[in-house]
Amino acid sequence: MSRFLSVVAALALPLAAADAAAERRISFAPYALPGSGTVALAVREGVPGEGAFAQLNAASNGALRRAVDAMQFEGKRGSKLDLPGLAGYDRVILLGIGEEPVTPRVLEDLGGRVGQEGAASASPRIELLWVGEEADAAAHLAFGAALGQYRFDKYKSRDAEDDTAARGEGELVVRTPAGVAAGEVYRAQWQPVATAVKTARDLVTEPANVLYPEVFVERAREAFDGMPNVRIEVLDVPAMEKLGMGGMLAVGKGSARPPRLLVVHYTGGARDQAPLAFVGKGITFDTGGISIKGSSGLWRMKYDMAGAASVTSAVLALAGRRAPVNAVAVAALAENMPSGTAAHPGDVVTTMSGKTFEIMSTDAEGRMVLSDAVYYAQQEFEPKLLVDVATLTGSIVTALGDEYAGLFSRDDTLAAQLTAAGELAGEDLWRMPLHESYGEGLKSPVADLRNGGGGPGAGVGAHFIGNWIADDLPWAHLDIAGMAWRESEGTPTSPTGATAFGVRLLDRFVREYHQ
Ligand code: BES
Ligand code: ZN
Ligand code: MN
Repeated sequence: MSRFLSVVAALALPLAAADAAAERRISFAPYALPGSGTVALAVREGVPGEGAFAQLNAASNGALRRAVDAMQFEGKRGSKLDLPGLAGYDRVILLGIGEEPVTPRVLEDLGGRVGQEGAASASPRIELLWVGEEADAAAHLAFGAALGQYRFDKYKSRDAEDDTAARGEGELVVRTPAGVAAGEVYRAQWQPVATAVKTARDLVTEPANVLYPEVFVERAREAFDGMPNVRIEVLDVPAMEKLGMGGMLAVGKGSARPPRLLVVHYTGGARDQAPLAFVGKGITFDTGGISIKGSSGLWRMKYDMAGAASVTSAVLALAGRRAPVNAVAVAALAENMPSGTAAHPGDVVTTMSGKTFEIMSTDAEGRMVLSDAVYYAQQEFEPKLLVDVATLTGSIVTALGDEYAGLFSRDDTLAAQLTAAGELAGEDLWRMPLHESYGEGLKSPVADLRNGGGGPGAGVGAHFIGNWIADDLPWAHLDIAGMAWRESEGTPTSPTGATAFGVRLLDRFVREYHQ
């Protein structure tokens, strides 16, 4: 009997687990002190007796202030005081926000911290109290909460006796004077971006046995299903052969999973307006190919498609919030494997543009697929500008760690705009040089260029891609190798693992400069 049950359970569990998207429903309510349950509130540095704090202190007959004093809680940014059983409440969570001005980024971080508390808690309802009047502020709190509560647990079995199963479910209520009106701002402007970030994180986190180029395409189709003004086009191997996309094909041919070029065209702007082009590196797994990588940390190379996930999801955000702009995402999808059909070092490849390159390392595959993808985007769409997003090099990780993505551009205006948008969005960029001399290492004796073997750096990779960009096109290359995956503890709005870096940045860039 028990044996029979365990067989049934083994069969049933993966299905049940796949359905479980543990997430709190985010809702809005007018500002008021709930009398019980779990409440979270922000506290400025010095813990002034104001707002929700003052009310809760009164409701608890001064117990809140006594607890703060006893614990020497100062309200410093990022600090937390978690008080169970105070007055009628299950839990009162004080979140320090320091003394800096309250920007959207601060609000999103605050919301993110509440989201993370919510994800770890089994209580059915968590209420965030915020006395600020503006609907926008409340929407940013909710946006942060949605980003912060992210987790990927579809492959975890659920054990009915384990109470952790209930964690992260129920409601998260934002209580502000703006009340339910804030919900309209959130649903129209920010929830679509939160959904896009979640979509990108899911794509990046999926392991390579599940997610390969064709599956990425399927998932994208599902994500855009029913959205107005969106056209999806997919190039398969014969289509790429016809166009002469030797770069895409050279990387894809070592794998049993064929490559794909995914194109998502969103036209929310005027018909005759040139689109913004976002092109992403989408290597669903990077073994290095014949120039094979070492085994340490190799599992992480499932995230080598993060650029493709970001650009596709950025356009998903634009389409979701009906942004009045035209944009196209081009995802260069391939799996880089060693095999009897793989490209060899020394091979000469002819790209769609007619330019040739010699493969020095099959592990410099990102620039190979991007050579065709950026060229295709220019030929097909005559874009106003082009931003490519790629986990391109280990050297950018060494240079900038997990604080900044590398930004390479010949266009000072575009570089400044992207940097500013990153600051607003909480996705920081650091501009790196694109010196002419980086081209020296890319000269080949047998082809127009070679794909590596010169200087080791991120700048050489950027320079290579630049060879397929028209001189007069504003172009930027974002090397997100250090930012796309977070091994350490994470931030309030970006828990450990896939970050979806680039989605918020590109959405913000469009908001600020192109709509
Ligand atoms: N996908 C890697 C870059 C990478 C490294 C991403 C670490 C994330 C974390 C890329 O394809 C690669 O292998 N780059 C090589 C380039 C070299 C062969 C010119 C590198 O950086 O070592
Ligand atoms: Zn790679
Ligand atoms: Mn590689």
